[in-house]
Amino acid sequence: MKLLVINGVNLNLTGRREQSVYGTETLAEIEAEIRAFAAVRGHAVDFFQSNCEGELCTAIQNAEGKYDGIVLNAGAYSHYSYAIRDAIASGTVPVVEVHMSNVFAREEFRRKSVLTEVCKGEILGFGKKSYLLALESFFL
Ligand code: DQA
Repeated sequence: MKLLVINGVNLNLTGRREQSVYGTETLAEIEAEIRAFAAVRGHAVDFFQSNCEGELCTAIQNAEGKYDGIVLNAGAYSHYSYAIRDAIASGTVPVVEVHMSNVFAREEFRRKSVLTEVCKGEILGFGKKSYLLALESFFL
């Protein structure tokens, strides 16, 4: 399988921002672990990160016909981006929504994701392992 892991706004700061919530590993370190996790299982993973909503939509659009699945942590956009929601709904590539933190144990505004309804499923609350569990959902 060929999978695409997309990280959205502020996820480039992982390892530096709010370490008690998101841990101390950088996004590059987490991506390396994700790549190794997929490789030993015989799967390939590409990565994309952007702070720009439109670029995230374009990445989802461009995945059409190229990837078997998308693992998406849209960051704060998850809570209000109808543009990303429409991009997911417009395509045929299954998307698994990911959050490192348990968004239900945090501020009220994080409890609502406008993306979940158009995603295949959602994994949250397991730190960097959320990405690995989301990948695993495609392999099983
Ligand atoms: C996040 C949760 C979001 O509420 C937040 O805005 C993020 C990260 C997570 O991975 O837990 O940037 O998606």
